[in-house]
Amino acid sequence: MSKNQPEELKSVPQHIAIIMDGNGRWARARLLPRMAGHRAGAENLRRIIKACVEFGIRYLTIYAFSTENWSRPKDEVAGLMNIFADLLEKEVPELHAEGVQIRHLGKIEDLNPALQKKLLNAIDFTKENDRLVLCIAINYGGRDEIVQAVKEIISEGIPADAITPQVIADHLFTAGIPDPDLIIRTSGEVRTSNYLVWQSAYSEWLFTGTLWPDFDKENLRKAILEYNTRTRKFGGRTSEEKKEAYNG
Ligand code: IPE
Ligand code: IPE
Ligand code: MG
Repeated sequence: MSKNQPEELKSVPQHIAIIMDGNGRWARARLLPRMAGHRAGAENLRRIIKACVEFGIRYLTIYAFSTENWSRPKDEVAGLMNIFADLLEKEVPELHAEGVQIRHLGKIEDLNPALQKKLLNAIDFTKENDRLVLCIAINYGGRDEIVQAVKEIISEGIPADAITPQVIADHLFTAGIPDPDLIIRTSGEVRTSNYLVWQSAYSEWLFTGTLWPDFDKENLRKAILEYNTRTRKFGGRTSEEKKEAYNG
């Protein structure tokens, strides 16, 4: 338990994943250009990372740019890439000081060389940290991830009989990271949009109408409280149910 963690957050999820959606609508509601929404979203991300550290979350995975987001207008894509580069440039020293380890999920080779370099530097610079692992999904798609895992498995010559769910998990971008306990999607959309397709098999989902730039620490605290009311069963029975069972 982290020392600043509020008493009521006794059992925080180990791994929270977020689909940070609604930047465009946030800007439109204020008659601002879309990029202003993306900048506000990036600002908010800084706050939410801090809150996660404070609440004692061990893994935070954020959906920053999907494989499908390349289909947006060129200017928007370029603007988003600039924001990511800027964030990495400015925030890594402070994240490092707070004990955050940065990882990337997605195909790095399709990103522009300057952004690739910043991302790889940030990953290398923070690799010994273990307070919070921040997985940044940029150019990430769940189906793409599974396809590349299958390709790797085949190229390693692993025989069909040896393929298990664990072998597949070990070849995903998230290798070594526990599956998300709680996935939050902001902005009112109720779909997964190709996020963590494999890893979310038993995640608890929380959909909120709040737009990403407005999703603050208090919303996060409420999401964790909601998570704490859920009963996870993983296809089995809870210990309570086992106690009550009279016919095996
Ligand atoms: C999420 O906000 C950011 C990215 C997908 C990169 P959107 O840009 O999707 O915002 P809406 O959904 O149009 O409001
Ligand atoms: C999902 O949001 C991707 C990110 C938040 C990065 P989108 O806005 O791209 O998803 P759809 O198009 O509404 O499904
Ligand atoms: Mg959207």
